[in-house]
Amino acid sequence: MKAKGRRIAMITAYDYPTARLADEAGVDVILVGDSAAMVVLGMKDTRFIGMEEMLVFCRAVSRAVSRALVVGDMPFMSYQASTEQAVLNAGRMVREGGVDAVKIEGGREYADVVRAIVRAGIPVMGHVGMTPQSAASSTGFRLRGKTAEEAEAIVRDAEEIARAGAFSIVLEFTTAEVAEYLSETLEIPVIGVGAGPRCDGQVLVLHDVLGLYENSPPFAKRYADLRSEVLGAIRRYVEEVRSGAFPDEGRFWRMGDEEREELRRRLARREGGAG
Ligand code: KIV
Repeated sequence: MKAKGRRIAMITAYDYPTARLADEAGVDVILVGDSAAMVVLGMKDTRFIGMEEMLVFCRAVSRAVSRALVVGDMPFMSYQASTEQAVLNAGRMVREGGVDAVKIEGGREYADVVRAIVRAGIPVMGHVGMTPQSAASSTGFRLRGKTAEEAEAIVRDAEEIARAGAFSIVLEFTTAEVAEYLSETLEIPVIGVGAGPRCDGQVLVLHDVLGLYENSPPFAKRYADLRSEVLGAIRRYVEEVRSGAFPDEGRFWRMGDEEREELRRRLARREGGAG
């Protein structure tokens, strides 16, 4: 797609119904993001989701998708401790989670990990710039690449990850100049999230797009207000249960006349017997 100048549309999904919808809507890449920790599981940040939880989400999404590429996020501490553990966990994402590729957060310090996973035959998507797993514990969720020094460091990170064999790179919350430079100079596609318009593709978190999450980052765009829709629907249901309007005619079933009469007789006998 990059070679043909076609922009890549990527979105996250974590479950069967929304992954089906994303696939049907024509998304190119579906990311089973570790953002599930926050938008689905209500955790404080992405460091608290583990392999087992990610595998459940990956399985649900890969069952649903017939067309898009499915990428599974490697969760915090599934690839940091050793290269061997990283390869084994990436293998689990593919074999048990059913994903086509894995994504790893981190700059040049993870080039060896990327190289080892690619050598094992698993395609890797990199993720540089603001990397939420490490930002949570150190530098915070802020725009990266405002100074020339920081921007150059991100460029070097992306170049090293590309050289290590990544097939694509997510560039998160980074100044637009960094994204422009990398999209122009790297052969592999640069997928931006909060990195401006001059990327080879864009990715957003599904719950931000649908208006289902209250703490969306400033770069996210809300394309629907499902929170209001869902709230309205559940409130109407509660009201109808309380008023007795639900279930209405057509949503429950009665016995035929003969069986009702027989039941009445049986119940009357029971009452007579008990008395
Ligand atoms: O986990 C996630 O949703 C992500 C995207 C923001 C790229 O990593």
